[in-house]
Amino acid sequence: MALAPTVQLRSGARLPLLGLGTWPLNDDEAATTVERAISAGYRLIDTAENYRNEKGVGEGVRRSGVPREELFITTKFNREHHSVDGVRRAFETSADLLGVDYVDLLLVHWPNPGQGRHVEAVQGIAALMDEGLVRAIGTSNYKPSHLQDVIDAGIVPDVNQIQLDPQRPRIVDRAFHDEHGIVTESWSPLGQGSGLLDEPAVRAIAEAHGMTPAQVVLRWHVQQGLVAIPKSSHPERLAQNLDVFDVELSGEEVASLYLLESQEAEIVDSDEFGH
Ligand code: A2P
Repeated sequence: MALAPTVQLRSGARLPLLGLGTWPLNDDEAATTVERAISAGYRLIDTAENYRNEKGVGEGVRRSGVPREELFITTKFNREHHSVDGVRRAFETSADLLGVDYVDLLLVHWPNPGQGRHVEAVQGIAALMDEGLVRAIGTSNYKPSHLQDVIDAGIVPDVNQIQLDPQRPRIVDRAFHDEHGIVTESWSPLGQGSGLLDEPAVRAIAEAHGMTPAQVVLRWHVQQGLVAIPKSSHPERLAQNLDVFDVELSGEEVASLYLLESQEAEIVDSDEFGH
């Protein structure tokens, strides 16, 4: 059984390039899917307080029988916890539900800049990391300006997880991440059923390599060092989504997928939205 290659984070932890997203699975579905995914070779599992399935994710982890230290468990917390003490309480609740002593990567789910505590939230994670309760510091949906505020306070996050797929390639955000050694993680890497998988350019590459359209898009992510966390409830899709490390897209093929960038593809604006 092949595992995904990993990328080293600033903190020293190693993050698999491909993992399982768990939104919008409920506890029961998450337990079944997480167990199945780990058996298929997944080691990175992504959940959040807001998904309300951390208990199920933890159950799936235990059922898998794979030792905790071989897994990379990520969760995220909501806006009401954006203070140093609040982050600690959020961590304790999540760790309890997951049934773990530490979390590999803890992310601020949305910056909520209007609340003015997007820096404090990251400082809360840094304090947990100092105690070994968290192995890497993460943000999600932070724009470069939000990250700059964090960096100005003396912390560089390990990971920023953003909405990213060939229709939303987020070039400016990625350049900022690269400049600071922040790893980019793609949420909704398959484009959330927006028709991306039916695009002729995707289908042509799939046919040329004997891959599925989803594999082409996931390969586009990981070949560029973007960590992808597709969700699927179907066993055969779980397996196919992880099986993208034996093919190589040509430079031309990667470039042709950039032509799918669309101004109409909605990107959730994290200055406006957040929970
Ligand atoms: P399903 O769970 O029924 O397989 P994203 O992670 O980009 O939001 O995409 C998740 C969506 O893509 C889910 O609706 C999931 O449906 C679907 N999906 C996941 N893997 C595949 C695949 N290999 N082929 C087609 N659709 C997929």
